[in-house]
Amino acid sequence: MFIKSLLLKNFRNYTEENICFCDGLNVLTGANAQGKTNAAEAIFLLCTGYSPRANKDRLVIKNGQETAQILGTASSMYGDVSVRIDFNKNDKKNIYVNGLQVLRIGEILGNINSVFFNPSELKLVQESPEDRRRFLNVSLSQMSKNYFYALQRYNKILSQRNNLLKDPNVSLIKDTLPIWDIQLSKEAAKIIKARNEFLTQIAPIAEEKHAYLSDSKETLKMKTESGYYGTEEEIAYAIYEDLKVSIEKDMRLGFTGIGPHRDDIKFTLNGDDVRVFGSQGQQRTVALSLKLAETETFYKRFNEYPILILDDVLSELDKKRQRKLVSATTHLQTIFTATGLDRTVFKNYDYNRIVIENGKVKKNK
Ligand SMILES: Nc1ncnc2c1ncn2[C@@H]1O[C@H](COP(=O)(O)OP(=O)(O)O)[C@@H](O)[C@H]1O
Ligand SMILES: [Mg+2]
Repeated sequence: MFIKSLLLKNFRNYTEENICFCDGLNVLTGANAQGKTNAAEAIFLLCTGYSPRANKDRLVIKNGQETAQILGTASSMYGDVSVRIDFNKNDKKNIYVNGLQVLRIGEILGNINSVFFNPSELKLVQESPEDRRRFLNVSLSQMSKNYFYALQRYNKILSQRNNLLKDPNVSLIKDTLPIWDIQLSKEAAKIIKARNEFLTQIAPIAEEKHAYLSDSKETLKMKTESGYYGTEEEIAYAIYEDLKVSIEKDMRLGFTGIGPHRDDIKFTLNGDDVRVFGSQGQQRTVALSLKLAETETFYKRFNEYPILILDDVLSELDKKRQRKLVSATTHLQTIFTATGLDRTVFKNYDYNRIVIENGKVKKNK
Protein backbone atom coordinates (compact mmCIF):
# COMPACT_ATOMS: atom_id res chain seq x y z
CA MET A 1 0.00 0.00 0.00
CA PHE A 2 1.24 3.50 -0.68
CA ILE A 3 -0.06 7.01 -0.33
CA LYS A 4 -0.20 8.85 -3.64
CA SER A 5 -1.27 12.30 -2.61
CA LEU A 6 -1.88 14.33 0.47
CA LEU A 7 -3.93 17.51 0.48
CA LEU A 8 -3.53 19.84 3.44
CA LYS A 9 -5.89 22.79 3.96
CA ASN A 10 -5.29 25.10 6.90
CA PHE A 11 -3.57 22.20 8.60
CA ARG A 12 -0.83 23.42 10.99
CA ASN A 13 1.45 25.78 9.02
CA TYR A 14 -0.01 24.80 5.62
CA THR A 15 -2.55 26.97 3.80
CA GLU A 16 -3.31 24.74 0.85
CA GLU A 17 -0.80 22.29 -0.52
CA ASN A 18 -0.87 19.01 -2.30
CA ILE A 19 2.05 16.66 -1.82
CA CYS A 20 2.60 13.79 -4.23
CA PHE A 21 4.41 10.65 -3.15
CA CYS A 22 5.81 7.77 -5.10
CA ASP A 23 5.72 4.11 -4.21
CA GLY A 24 9.14 3.38 -2.74
CA LEU A 25 11.46 5.95 -1.23
CA ASN A 26 10.34 9.51 -0.52
CA VAL A 27 12.56 12.04 1.16
CA LEU A 28 10.99 15.16 2.59
CA THR A 29 13.59 17.78 3.30
CA GLY A 30 13.54 21.29 4.67
CA ALA A 31 15.07 23.36 7.45
CA ASN A 32 13.72 23.17 10.99
CA ALA A 33 10.09 24.14 11.63
CA GLN A 34 9.05 24.20 7.96
CA GLY A 35 6.31 21.57 8.13
CA LYS A 36 7.94 18.18 7.60
CA THR A 37 6.63 16.58 10.78
CA ASN A 38 3.27 18.27 10.20
CA ALA A 39 2.95 16.44 6.88
CA ALA A 40 4.00 13.15 8.51
CA GLU A 41 1.48 13.73 11.28
CA ALA A 42 -1.29 14.27 8.72
CA ILE A 43 -0.61 10.90 7.10
CA PHE A 44 -0.71 9.14 10.45
CA LEU A 45 -3.94 10.94 11.31
CA LEU A 46 -5.53 9.61 8.13
CA CYS A 47 -4.58 6.08 9.18
CA THR A 48 -5.63 6.12 12.80
CA GLY A 49 -7.79 9.20 13.42
CA TYR A 50 -5.44 10.35 16.11
CA SER A 51 -2.38 12.54 16.18
CA PRO A 52 0.84 11.37 17.75
CA ARG A 53 1.49 14.88 19.02
CA ALA A 54 -1.76 16.80 19.52
CA ASN A 55 -4.07 15.82 22.33
CA LYS A 56 -6.77 18.18 21.06
CA ASP A 57 -7.95 18.10 17.47
CA ARG A 58 -8.28 21.87 17.27
CA LEU A 59 -4.51 22.25 17.72
CA VAL A 60 -3.94 21.09 14.17
CA ILE A 61 -6.06 23.90 12.72
CA LYS A 62 -3.93 26.69 11.35
CA ASN A 63 -3.77 29.58 13.78
CA GLY A 64 -6.53 32.08 13.07
CA GLN A 65 -8.62 29.61 11.01
CA GLU A 66 -11.89 27.92 11.95
CA THR A 67 -11.52 24.60 10.14
CA ALA A 68 -8.87 22.41 8.59
CA GLN A 69 -9.00 19.54 6.16
CA ILE A 70 -6.68 16.74 5.21
CA LEU A 71 -7.28 14.32 2.40
CA GLY A 72 -5.11 11.40 1.42
CA THR A 73 -5.43 9.00 -1.47
CA ALA A 74 -3.67 5.70 -1.24
CA SER A 75 -3.28 2.83 -3.61
CA SER A 76 -3.94 -0.59 -2.12
CA MET A 77 -4.36 -4.10 -3.50
CA TYR A 78 -8.12 -3.48 -3.50
CA GLY A 79 -7.84 -0.26 -5.48
CA ASP A 80 -7.64 3.36 -4.47
CA VAL A 81 -8.89 4.47 -1.12
CA SER A 82 -9.33 8.04 0.03
CA VAL A 83 -9.67 9.25 3.59
CA ARG A 84 -10.58 12.78 4.53
CA ILE A 85 -10.79 14.43 7.92
CA ASP A 86 -12.44 17.78 8.53
CA PHE A 87 -11.36 19.41 11.78
CA ASN A 88 -13.46 21.94 13.65
CA LYS A 89 -12.70 24.34 16.46
CA ASN A 90 -15.05 22.40 18.77
CA ASP A 91 -12.79 19.32 18.49
CA LYS A 92 -15.47 17.35 16.64
CA LYS A 93 -13.99 15.96 13.47
CA ASN A 94 -15.82 14.52 10.49
CA ILE A 95 -14.31 11.56 8.72
CA TYR A 96 -15.01 10.44 5.17
CA VAL A 97 -13.83 7.22 3.60
CA ASN A 98 -14.14 7.20 -0.19
CA GLY A 99 -16.42 10.19 0.11
CA LEU A 100 -18.85 8.62 2.55
CA GLN A 101 -18.99 9.93 6.07
CA VAL A 102 -18.27 7.37 8.77
CA LEU A 103 -19.94 7.80 12.10
CA ARG A 104 -17.64 5.87 14.36
CA ILE A 105 -13.99 6.83 14.71
CA GLY A 106 -13.07 3.14 14.52
CA GLU A 107 -14.22 3.06 10.90
CA ILE A 108 -11.18 5.04 9.84
CA LEU A 109 -8.95 2.12 10.85
CA GLY A 110 -7.64 -0.32 8.31
CA ASN A 111 -8.20 1.88 5.26
CA ILE A 112 -4.70 3.28 5.03
CA ASN A 113 -2.13 1.65 7.29
CA SER A 114 1.11 3.12 8.47
CA VAL A 115 3.91 2.64 10.91
CA PHE A 116 5.17 5.91 12.31
CA PHE A 117 8.52 6.54 13.89
CA ASN A 118 10.01 9.76 15.15
CA PRO A 119 12.58 10.57 17.82
CA SER A 120 9.98 10.69 20.58
CA GLU A 121 9.24 7.00 19.92
CA LEU A 122 12.28 6.38 22.03
CA LYS A 123 9.73 6.52 24.84
CA LEU A 124 8.73 3.11 23.66
CA VAL A 125 11.87 1.66 25.13
CA GLN A 126 12.84 4.28 27.67
CA GLU A 127 9.73 5.26 29.48
CA SER A 128 6.66 3.87 31.16
CA PRO A 129 4.74 0.69 30.35
CA GLU A 130 1.96 2.95 29.11
CA ASP A 131 4.09 3.90 26.10
CA ARG A 132 4.60 0.25 25.24
CA ARG A 133 0.89 -0.46 25.60
CA ARG A 134 0.18 2.46 23.29
CA PHE A 135 2.44 0.88 20.71
CA LEU A 136 0.49 -2.37 20.98
CA ASN A 137 -2.85 -0.58 20.87
CA VAL A 138 -2.04 1.60 17.87
CA SER A 139 -0.61 -1.26 15.91
CA LEU A 140 -3.31 -3.79 16.78
CA SER A 141 -6.14 -1.31 16.28
CA GLN A 142 -4.98 -0.67 12.74
CA MET A 143 -4.87 -4.41 12.16
CA SER A 144 -8.23 -5.16 13.72
CA LYS A 145 -11.28 -3.05 14.43
CA ASN A 146 -12.44 -5.78 16.82
CA TYR A 147 -9.38 -5.11 18.91
CA PHE A 148 -10.08 -1.37 18.90
CA TYR A 149 -13.70 -1.84 19.96
CA ALA A 150 -12.78 -4.41 22.63
CA LEU A 151 -10.27 -1.92 23.99
CA GLN A 152 -12.88 0.84 24.05
CA ARG A 153 -15.34 -1.38 25.91
CA TYR A 154 -12.65 -2.62 28.27
CA ASN A 155 -11.57 0.91 29.20
CA LYS A 156 -15.15 1.94 29.80
CA ILE A 157 -15.95 -1.01 32.07
CA LEU A 158 -12.62 -0.59 33.83
CA SER A 159 -13.24 3.03 34.69
CA GLN A 160 -16.75 2.20 35.94
CA ARG A 161 -15.31 -0.63 38.01
CA ASN A 162 -12.67 1.69 39.46
CA ASN A 163 -15.37 4.20 40.41
CA LEU A 164 -17.38 1.47 42.06
CA LEU A 165 -14.35 0.32 44.05
CA LYS A 166 -14.26 3.72 45.71
CA ASP A 167 -17.89 3.48 46.83
CA PRO A 168 -18.25 3.44 50.63
CA ASN A 169 -21.01 0.86 50.40
CA VAL A 170 -19.01 -2.38 50.62
CA SER A 171 -21.92 -4.75 50.18
CA LEU A 172 -22.96 -2.90 47.03
CA ILE A 173 -19.46 -3.43 45.68
CA LYS A 174 -19.47 -7.11 46.53
CA ASP A 175 -22.88 -7.63 44.95
CA THR A 176 -22.17 -5.70 41.81
CA LEU A 177 -18.58 -6.59 40.96
CA PRO A 178 -19.07 -10.21 39.85
CA ILE A 179 -21.40 -9.07 37.06
CA TRP A 180 -19.01 -6.38 35.91
CA ASP A 181 -16.10 -8.74 36.14
CA ILE A 182 -17.60 -11.24 33.72
CA GLN A 183 -17.75 -8.49 31.10
CA LEU A 184 -14.37 -7.09 32.03
CA SER A 185 -12.68 -10.51 31.80
CA LYS A 186 -14.21 -11.17 28.39
CA GLU A 187 -12.94 -7.93 26.90
CA ALA A 188 -9.59 -8.32 28.67
CA ALA A 189 -9.18 -11.77 27.17
CA LYS A 190 -9.74 -10.46 23.63
CA ILE A 191 -7.07 -7.83 24.16
CA ILE A 192 -4.55 -10.14 25.79
CA LYS A 193 -5.02 -12.90 23.23
CA ALA A 194 -4.46 -10.43 20.37
CA ARG A 195 -1.39 -9.01 22.09
CA ASN A 196 0.04 -12.46 22.75
CA GLU A 197 -0.35 -13.42 19.10
CA PHE A 198 1.11 -10.14 17.93
CA LEU A 199 4.10 -10.37 20.24
CA THR A 200 4.78 -13.97 19.32
CA GLN A 201 4.82 -12.89 15.69
CA ILE A 202 6.76 -9.66 16.06
CA ALA A 203 9.46 -10.74 18.56
CA PRO A 204 11.58 -12.94 16.28
CA ILE A 205 11.35 -10.37 13.46
CA ALA A 206 12.37 -7.49 15.73
CA GLU A 207 15.28 -9.60 16.97
CA GLU A 208 16.36 -10.25 13.41
CA LYS A 209 16.06 -6.55 12.44
CA HIS A 210 18.10 -5.57 15.46
CA ALA A 211 20.82 -8.05 14.57
CA TYR A 212 20.89 -6.57 11.07
CA LEU A 213 21.07 -2.94 12.20
CA SER A 214 23.69 -3.66 14.83
CA ASP A 215 25.84 -5.86 12.59
CA SER A 216 25.01 -8.86 14.75
CA LYS A 217 26.86 -7.33 17.68
CA GLU A 218 23.79 -7.30 19.90
CA THR A 219 21.14 -9.87 20.59
CA LEU A 220 17.73 -8.45 21.29
CA LYS A 221 15.15 -10.45 23.21
CA MET A 222 11.68 -9.24 23.96
CA LYS A 223 8.99 -10.76 26.08
CA THR A 224 5.68 -9.79 27.61
CA GLU A 225 4.78 -9.96 31.20
CA SER A 226 1.01 -10.32 31.08
CA GLY A 227 1.18 -13.85 32.47
CA TYR A 228 -2.02 -14.95 30.70
CA TYR A 229 -1.84 -17.47 27.90
CA GLY A 230 -4.11 -19.90 26.08
CA THR A 231 -7.44 -19.51 24.36
CA GLU A 232 -9.70 -16.52 24.84
CA GLU A 233 -11.95 -18.57 27.16
CA GLU A 234 -9.01 -19.76 29.22
CA ILE A 235 -7.65 -16.25 29.59
CA ALA A 236 -11.08 -14.86 30.50
CA TYR A 237 -11.54 -17.54 33.14
CA ALA A 238 -8.08 -16.96 34.64
CA ILE A 239 -8.63 -13.22 34.82
CA TYR A 240 -12.05 -13.62 36.34
CA GLU A 241 -10.60 -15.84 39.04
CA ASP A 242 -7.72 -13.42 39.68
CA LEU A 243 -10.13 -10.50 39.96
CA LYS A 244 -12.06 -12.44 42.59
CA VAL A 245 -8.90 -13.08 44.59
CA SER A 246 -7.71 -9.50 44.44
CA ILE A 247 -11.01 -7.85 45.32
CA GLU A 248 -10.00 -6.84 48.86
CA LYS A 249 -6.77 -5.35 47.62
CA ASP A 250 -8.53 -3.53 44.77
CA MET A 251 -11.02 -2.07 47.25
CA ARG A 252 -8.24 -0.90 49.46
CA LEU A 253 -6.35 0.71 46.57
CA GLY A 254 -9.44 2.00 44.82
CA PHE A 255 -8.40 0.67 41.43
CA THR A 256 -8.09 -2.57 39.52
CA GLY A 257 -4.65 -4.09 39.95
CA ILE A 258 -4.70 -6.74 37.24
CA GLY A 259 -5.55 -6.84 33.55
CA PRO A 260 -4.24 -5.70 30.19
CA HIS A 261 -4.01 -2.11 31.40
CA ARG A 262 -1.02 -3.32 33.43
CA ASP A 263 0.80 -5.21 30.64
CA ASP A 264 4.37 -4.48 29.72
CA ILE A 265 7.03 -5.61 27.27
CA LYS A 266 10.55 -6.22 28.41
CA PHE A 267 13.55 -5.73 26.11
CA THR A 268 17.00 -7.13 26.79
CA LEU A 269 20.21 -6.77 24.80
CA ASN A 270 22.75 -9.50 25.36
CA GLY A 271 20.79 -10.30 28.50
CA ASP A 272 20.69 -6.80 30.00
CA ASP A 273 17.55 -4.73 30.45
CA VAL A 274 17.67 -2.13 27.66
CA ARG A 275 15.67 0.38 29.64
CA VAL A 276 18.20 0.39 32.44
CA PHE A 277 21.48 -0.43 30.75
CA GLY A 278 21.01 0.49 27.09
CA SER A 279 22.70 3.53 25.59
CA GLN A 280 20.53 6.04 23.71
CA GLY A 281 21.79 4.61 20.44
CA GLN A 282 20.93 1.07 21.49
CA GLN A 283 17.50 2.08 22.70
CA ARG A 284 16.87 3.89 19.43
CA THR A 285 17.91 0.85 17.44
CA VAL A 286 15.59 -1.36 19.51
CA ALA A 287 12.65 0.98 18.89
CA LEU A 288 13.50 1.14 15.21
CA SER A 289 13.81 -2.65 14.94
CA LEU A 290 10.42 -2.97 16.53
CA LYS A 291 8.87 -0.58 14.03
CA LEU A 292 10.51 -2.33 11.09
CA ALA A 293 9.22 -5.62 12.47
CA GLU A 294 5.77 -4.10 12.76
CA THR A 295 5.72 -3.51 8.99
CA GLU A 296 6.38 -7.23 8.52
CA THR A 297 3.50 -8.23 10.78
CA PHE A 298 1.20 -6.09 8.65
CA TYR A 299 2.50 -7.90 5.60
CA LYS A 300 1.98 -11.32 7.20
CA ARG A 301 -1.61 -10.48 7.96
CA PHE A 302 -2.72 -8.56 4.90
CA ASN A 303 -0.20 -9.50 2.22
CA GLU A 304 0.47 -5.83 1.89
CA TYR A 305 2.98 -3.52 3.51
CA PRO A 306 1.88 -0.41 5.39
CA ILE A 307 3.40 3.01 4.73
CA LEU A 308 6.53 3.48 6.79
CA ILE A 309 7.02 7.02 8.06
CA LEU A 310 10.46 7.72 9.47
CA ASP A 311 10.43 11.24 10.78
CA ASP A 312 13.81 12.75 11.65
CA VAL A 313 15.38 9.38 12.22
CA LEU A 314 18.40 9.53 9.93
CA SER A 315 20.11 12.39 11.73
CA GLU A 316 20.29 10.32 14.86
CA LEU A 317 22.11 7.39 13.32
CA ASP A 318 25.68 7.11 12.14
CA LYS A 319 26.30 6.84 8.39
CA LYS A 320 26.62 3.11 8.43
CA ARG A 321 23.29 2.61 10.22
CA GLN A 322 21.68 5.21 7.98
CA ARG A 323 22.66 3.22 4.91
CA LYS A 324 21.53 0.00 6.52
CA LEU A 325 18.20 1.54 7.39
CA VAL A 326 17.64 2.80 3.86
CA SER A 327 18.50 -0.58 2.39
CA ALA A 328 16.06 -2.23 4.84
CA THR A 329 13.19 -0.09 3.59
CA THR A 330 13.34 -0.31 -0.18
CA HIS A 331 10.58 -2.93 -0.49
CA LEU A 332 7.80 -0.69 0.83
CA GLN A 333 6.74 2.91 0.63
CA THR A 334 8.92 4.84 3.03
CA ILE A 335 8.69 8.51 3.82
CA PHE A 336 11.84 9.88 5.37
CA THR A 337 12.01 13.40 6.70
CA ALA A 338 15.36 15.10 7.21
CA THR A 339 16.78 18.59 7.39
CA GLY A 340 19.17 17.84 4.58
CA LEU A 341 19.62 15.25 1.92
CA ASP A 342 22.76 13.22 2.21
CA ARG A 343 23.16 11.84 -1.29
CA THR A 344 25.71 9.27 -0.24
CA VAL A 345 23.09 7.61 1.93
CA PHE A 346 20.60 7.32 -0.95
CA LYS A 347 23.17 6.54 -3.61
CA ASN A 348 22.01 3.85 -6.06
CA TYR A 349 18.35 4.23 -5.04
CA ASP A 350 15.55 5.95 -6.87
CA TYR A 351 13.77 8.35 -4.62
CA ASN A 352 11.23 11.13 -4.77
CA ARG A 353 12.52 14.28 -3.20
CA ILE A 354 10.08 16.76 -1.72
CA VAL A 355 11.29 20.09 -0.41
CA ILE A 356 9.15 21.86 2.17
CA GLU A 357 9.64 25.52 2.95
CA ASN A 358 7.43 27.43 5.33
CA GLY A 359 4.38 25.24 4.76
CA LYS A 360 4.83 25.16 0.98
CA VAL A 361 6.00 22.44 -1.36
CA LYS A 362 8.95 23.88 -3.22
CA LYS A 363 9.91 20.87 -5.23
CA ASN A 364 8.02 17.69 -5.82
CA LYS A 365 9.14 15.55 -8.67
N1 LIG B 1 -1.88 25.13 14.43
C1 LIG B 1 -0.83 25.69 13.85
N2 LIG B 1 -0.98 26.81 13.10
C2 LIG B 1 0.08 27.39 12.49
N3 LIG B 1 1.33 26.94 12.57
C3 LIG B 1 1.54 25.82 13.29
C4 LIG B 1 0.47 25.15 13.96
N4 LIG B 1 1.00 24.09 14.60
C5 LIG B 1 2.31 24.09 14.35
N5 LIG B 1 2.65 25.13 13.56
C6 LIG B 1 3.97 25.50 13.07
O1 LIG B 1 4.54 24.44 12.35
C7 LIG B 1 5.96 24.55 12.46
C8 LIG B 1 6.57 23.23 12.84
O2 LIG B 1 6.40 22.36 11.83
P1 LIG B 1 7.06 20.91 11.89
O3 LIG B 1 6.38 20.14 10.85
O4 LIG B 1 7.07 20.39 13.26
O5 LIG B 1 8.54 21.29 11.48
P2 LIG B 1 9.69 20.39 10.92
O6 LIG B 1 9.84 20.74 9.47
O7 LIG B 1 10.90 20.80 11.71
O8 LIG B 1 9.32 18.97 11.14
C9 LIG B 1 6.28 25.55 13.53
O9 LIG B 1 6.74 26.72 12.94
C10 LIG B 1 4.94 25.75 14.20
O10 LIG B 1 4.82 27.03 14.72
MG1 LIG C 1 10.12 17.63 12.52
